[in-house]
Amino acid sequence: MANLEQEFAELKQQVQALQKELARVSDEAEVRKTHHKYGYYLDKCLYNEVVDMFSDHPDAYVEFLGTRYRGKAGIRRLYQGRFQKNFVAGRNGPVYGWLLDHIMMQDIIDVDESGTHAWCRMRALMQAGTHQSIEEYFPGGHRQWWEGGLYENEYIKEDGVWKLFRYRYFPFWHAEHERGWSHTKKNYIPWPTKTFPEDPQGPDEIIEQKMLWPDTRVIPFHYPHPVTGQRINADDLRAPIWAGKVDEAEPPLTLELPAGQKRPGATDAEPKPGDKDSKMAHIYDLAPEISNYGDNRLTDQSKVRFPRTDVFRSMNKPSRFEGDVFDLEFSGTIPTDIDGTFYRVQPDTRFPPLFEDDIHFNGDGSVTAIRISGGHADFKQRYVKTERYTLETAARRALFGRYRNPFTDNESVKGVIRTASNTNIFFWRGMLLAAKEDGPPFAMDPVTLETLGRYDFEGQMLSPTFTAHPKFDPETGEMVCFAYEAGGDGSDCSVDVAVWTFAANGTKTDECWYKAPFAGMIHDAGLSENWLVLPLTPIKMDLERMKQGGNKFAWDPYEDQWYALCPRRGAKPEDIIWFRADNGFHGHVAGCYELPSGQVALDLTVADGNVFFWFPPDTNKTPSDGVAKRNKLSSPTMRWIFDPKAKKSAITYPEGHTVWVADERVRPAATWKTNGEFSRIDDRFVTKPYRHFWQAVVDPSRPYDFAKCGPPAGGLFNCLGHYTWAEEHVVDSEEKEQVKKDGEFGVEDVYFAGPTMTFQEPTFIPKQGGGEGEGYLIALLNHLDELRNDVVILDAKDLKKGPLAVIHLPLKLKLGLHGNWVDSREIEAWRQRRAEGGDVGPVQVAKDMLPWQKAFFEKQKGQETNGTSTNQATANGH
Ligand SMILES: [Fe+2]
Repeated sequence: MANLEQEFAELKQQVQALQKELARVSDEAEVRKTHHKYGYYLDKCLYNEVVDMFSDHPDAYVEFLGTRYRGKAGIRRLYQGRFQKNFVAGRNGPVYGWLLDHIMMQDIIDVDESGTHAWCRMRALMQAGTHQSIEEYFPGGHRQWWEGGLYENEYIKEDGVWKLFRYRYFPFWHAEHERGWSHTKKNYIPWPTKTFPEDPQGPDEIIEQKMLWPDTRVIPFHYPHPVTGQRINADDLRAPIWAGKVDEAEPPLTLELPAGQKRPGATDAEPKPGDKDSKMAHIYDLAPEISNYGDNRLTDQSKVRFPRTDVFRSMNKPSRFEGDVFDLEFSGTIPTDIDGTFYRVQPDTRFPPLFEDDIHFNGDGSVTAIRISGGHADFKQRYVKTERYTLETAARRALFGRYRNPFTDNESVKGVIRTASNTNIFFWRGMLLAAKEDGPPFAMDPVTLETLGRYDFEGQMLSPTFTAHPKFDPETGEMVCFAYEAGGDGSDCSVDVAVWTFAANGTKTDECWYKAPFAGMIHDAGLSENWLVLPLTPIKMDLERMKQGGNKFAWDPYEDQWYALCPRRGAKPEDIIWFRADNGFHGHVAGCYELPSGQVALDLTVADGNVFFWFPPDTNKTPSDGVAKRNKLSSPTMRWIFDPKAKKSAITYPEGHTVWVADERVRPAATWKTNGEFSRIDDRFVTKPYRHFWQAVVDPSRPYDFAKCGPPAGGLFNCLGHYTWAEEHVVDSEEKEQVKKDGEFGVEDVYFAGPTMTFQEPTFIPKQGGGEGEGYLIALLNHLDELRNDVVILDAKDLKKGPLAVIHLPLKLKLGLHGNWVDSREIEAWRQRRAEGGDVGPVQVAKDMLPWQKAFFEKQKGQETNGTSTNQATANGH
């Protein structure tokens, strides 16, 4: 029944969306008819009928020839006073021999979100004049002329009827019929200079909006540019003389309202074009909440049916697809100097989850390989065959419960490594490692995507957890990696942090264990020549909450964000320095390097609130009304500077662990308002001063086609951004370190795909032998309207010119997390070394259980001997 109810709710939602779209389309047609009807009355001087078409609203007005006639009284004065008296001797209707045809055309009608307020831009071409037979008695005599004009009008819907609301008519040019517009005398129509009541038929106000041919200014547009979403620069609306100075020309015309008036349907929160300080209005306003979310219901496991929540809908509907597509379709040209494979991983839930309110991050890792060579591209996708995968396949159903909460698992899988390996896929010594930070990595074959097994670095890494963001030193070939919640069984909220270094030959050369101030998340890291920087995000684990079946994490809005500076070589636990800063949510790291003084710079995005809104603070649990609310955030790129010589003090927590904390708090040294995430650099510049970084960007000022796409799935990354630090911000000399770095941070090069598309994380492909940033950017593009993906390839240093190639996937993937590019030569060289008889030999996967598993099963065996166990576990994948 629960599913039927959800389906009904979903259908209802779809019907409502259709109703809304139908209403918009029919409103648009009604507004057009309204204006055309007005035109037919106006042609024949039926001014009483014209006046009746206007709203009685006090904010109504007509703007005409630099004047405004306000309210119904003002509008009457214009049509039934001035026009009626002057044109038709005070009657209602035409007079003999007097032509006044208004042809209306090229209308652009936009109905506001409110459905009660509309705009229309339209042309009028008027044919006017008198027949020669009335020359003798008609006050204007015998004449004929053309008039070209433009409307920018507003309409309101009152009691279901569209009415004229604010009319702005700009008669733009006049032309005598015989001689044409080039001979029009200046100020063809005299400007009114007196207002009512001094002039009994005068306007209520004179405004400085006088424009008559040959004045060539642009009437401002009520709509933004349909492709870029931008407004026209005010100066571009002006019309200077040929080769003249713009600032000496007439000022731009405006559509501004008189003081005290507002636009119906307009909100104060409307983002202004180019307003980088505006919060992520887009995603927040378009999808402020996730429906059917957070009510802790169990799914019906007798059916194969995914929850009808936004987590499993639209672009995020599980794809569950494994397969190959040879020679993908593409547009443009795939550069032939690209030869390698773009690997990326997506959480792609295989079975309906145990809980209806399951989250995206709990999906099974599914790896995509886009192999590009010789100007062509092939596709391959395979699941990571984790222990979770194997056991759930055998059971044909989900056995593992909530994200990183083993207390919610089926009893049969206790003691099993429960990671879904869904966060990152990277190349190490001839294998791919699929990793998620709650468990050890799994090795895959880079050509076939066959899962080889769990990888424990030939027995050198036995922690229950391992990062999804190891760092690779391009100079030494080392992998520097870490783990948090690394003590115990990896699900016990321990404060243990481990850092390892594996040399290029695979040997572990360093290992140090630290304590964190609290059990929070350490997702990404920065690597410099001598330091590893670990950002600890104030989103906290709690064992009691987990035991009660609750969330792994809860956001703590009162906790600091922390950064740990860890020496890369020969470290002891007390060598770590923890730096504290004001609350914030860490995104991904762009670059990290050492300044000439030895201080360490770290650049990463930091959001000003809880990005993971599905993990609300304990004091504000996910409400039981079935929604999870988004937080309105901004996400700039911040530069932090850490001093390894900072004075520090030991703090011992009541739980018994000691941390070493810098006495002085840190603040960002720079805040570049990029408003993006998934920062990437040219990986050859890891540990080094760098100039270029790329991000998936949220630009709330760009248009979004809600009618076609509905609420966006995941983040609304509607742009790709390429950011180039200004020279003075690339701190590679002592002089630059001394310079105070204010003002412009650098150059922004942004590509907007369009109102129906979003991006996934971009990855840089270096050009062989090229300098920093010379190469390509590759990223998945989500078509939210068609539910399909493309892979785009752009010139990494010139994103705004758009993709060089768009590779068309014939199917929908899911919103993925991270990916990496691997050159074909590297894959092939390692294939030979890993072959039987090669100098390294086949990948050696883990043969033995992890220490925490051994301890678990030994304890269970002891309990069984004592007759106290209720655990029915038989399968653990070993
Ligand atoms: Fe990540």
